[in-house]
Formats: sequence, C-alpha cells, structure tokens
Amino acid sequence: MSLSTDRPDIIHHLPPDHLGRSLRADVRAGLSASPKTLPPKWFYDKLGSELFERITGLPEYYPTRAEREVLELYAAEMAAASPAQTLIELGSGSSRKTPLLLNALRAEGSLRRYVAVDVSDSALLEARNELAPAFPGLELQAVAADFETQLHLLPRAGRRMVAFLGGTIGNFEPVARARFLSNVRELLGADGGSLLLGTDLVKSPHVLVPAYADAEGVTADFNRNVLRVLNSELGADFDVMAFEHVAVWMPQEEWIEMRLRASRPMLVRLPGVDMDVRFHEGEELRTEISAKFRLEGVVEEIEAAGFSAIGQWTDRQNRYAMTLAEAI
Ligand code: SAH
Ligand code: TRP
Repeated sequence: MSLSTDRPDIIHHLPPDHLGRSLRADVRAGLSASPKTLPPKWFYDKLGSELFERITGLPEYYPTRAEREVLELYAAEMAAASPAQTLIELGSGSSRKTPLLLNALRAEGSLRRYVAVDVSDSALLEARNELAPAFPGLELQAVAADFETQLHLLPRAGRRMVAFLGGTIGNFEPVARARFLSNVRELLGADGGSLLLGTDLVKSPHVLVPAYADAEGVTADFNRNVLRVLNSELGADFDVMAFEHVAVWMPQEEWIEMRLRASRPMLVRLPGVDMDVRFHEGEELRTEISAKFRLEGVVEEIEAAGFSAIGQWTDRQNRYAMTLAEAI
C-alpha cells in the first residue's frame, strides 16, 4: 500500500500507469474486436464523474431516486440485520446516498469506519469533503482501486458490510458478474459479513430506454466522454460529436446496451496504441450494458457465490431492489 504525497487523503492502489497501461490494453482489445467495444470504467474521469452526477438528477433516470427511497424506508432494518463495524462501498462515486446507511449503522452503535472505493479520484475527494464534517468521529478511508481486480487489497478486519449500489452490478457481463460476486465473498473470508446489493429491476422498455437516453442529452454526452478520454490519454483524434448515442433494450438478455454510432465513415488515429481504426457509416461501438434483474434472479446469483440472502426490499413502485446477504 502506498500513500501518495500529492493526494494525502486517498489510499492509492491503482498502479501509477493505470490510465496508461490498462487503458491501452482495453482499447487494443476492444477496438480490434468485432463488433467494437470499450469497457465502461473509462467513462469516469473528472468530467465523466460530473456527468454521471447530472444523470442521477435527470427526470428520466429513476434508479438513483428509487434506491434512495429504499434506503429511506429500510436502512434501519438493514443495519439491524447486519450491524457492521466497517462499511465498504464499491464504486462509491459521490457517496450521496451513503449517509442514509451510515446513520442507520451508527444508530445500531456498531459503526467504526467507512471505506469508499472508486477509480475516480475526483469523486473520492469530493465525497470525503462532504462526509467528514457530517460524520465526526467516523474513520473515513478513500481508496482508489479497481473493484474488478483489487478487492484483495481492501481492509479485512472487523465485521464488514460491502455495499454495491447504483445498479453498477448491472454493468458487468454475466460471467464477470459471477466472478465479481465470488471475489466479494472471498474478501469477506471466514469472518462473515454481508453484501448489500442494489439492482434495477426489469420493467417496460418505455421506462427503461429513456433512463438511458434522456431528452436533454446528458447521457449522450456521458457516453461520448469515453471518446474524449481516448483523445486526451492516447492522443486519439475521435470527432466526438460525429458519434450518436444509442440506447437499446435487449429483451433476450434483459439489459440496456449503450452504443456510439458513427454518423459517417471515419478513420480514427490512436497514436497511444499505435492503431488506426476504421468506422463505416452507421457502425456501432458498444460502450456499456446495464442489466436489469428479477428478485429471484438476484437471490440465485448471490447464493451461487456463497451468500445467504437475509432481506430484500423494493421502492414503493417496485422499480428497484436492494438485497442483503450474509457470507456463509
Ligand atoms: N454508487 C454511486 C455511483 C454509481 S456510478 C451511485 O449509486 O450513484 C459507478 C461508479 O463506479 C463510478 O463512480 C465509477 O467511477 C465507479 N467505477 C466504475 N468502474 C469501476 C472499477 N472497475 N473499479 C472501481 N470503481 C469503478
Ligand atoms: N450504473 C449505472 C447504470 O447502469 C451507469 C449508467 C447510467 C450509465 N447511465 C449510463 C452508463 C449511461 C453508461 C451510459 O444505470
């Protein structure tokens, strides 16, 4: 573990060349595949984190409000069922909903520390600045780490609750999702502890699609941000606005696919990976999936990873679920 000196408030686990080496490997693989893809974690530079924050406030994007409602209604029950000393939140972003959970765990008298884990430094710093004055006496750790590959570096002591909110679990492909859940189980080890998982539920595409294709175009801007990251980090020359945002409901897979569609033929140079990439008119680059779940499906998947579900709650309109499970 190394403490960076220029950002003393953050524990850095991401290798110093993370944005370089790992981005380059992902881009090489994704842009030479057919169809072309890019992995979603590269959305979240400073601008990307800000754009996501704006998405959470859009009228069409209900998941954040629905999850907040579940926490407002049931955080006390969750905390009573699993009185953790340490709350570890993966992909914590702005940590805006976390105070509901922290207050409930504090009311149980168990809470000692909160560990926020994200790839975005800017989000971690902002969250820390908001939380520190609101929770005096609570030990706060901001950890810059990749939750796909670095869970083994997180704190192992004490009774822990691992929270994974925002429906971010839906951004994994099914195989990666199963692996991730097993890694969380592994992190909890033999001491037990719990997982609190937020999942958006299957519903009408008339509700789902606008949540990922808002009228104002904020989601489109967020989606295109991944191209801006490639331009700035790899010296690429994507004409960002020549890509249209597309959100499609895939009924078989039960997920939303986010894509970027080339509005004309293009040859894009990416000096940082030594590649020239051709797009034909109408060609789509897949940037993200957001899988939607069914209540029983969530329980099956987490139980397959070595947990036992002890509670499941939804918002009043049954749009969104939170499932609490104990490591067994
Ligand atoms: N939990 C917040 C944010 C959800 S957005 C909410 O509910 O609103 C997803 C968050 O996960 C972003 O903050 C992003 O920076 C982070 N993230 C994405 N991929 C990640 C990865 N591989 N490792 C760690 N954090 C990641
Ligand atoms: N975890 C969020 C979700 O699946 C991420 C997200 C929201 C997202 N809107 C997006 C990702 C648009 C890409 C594009 O709901």
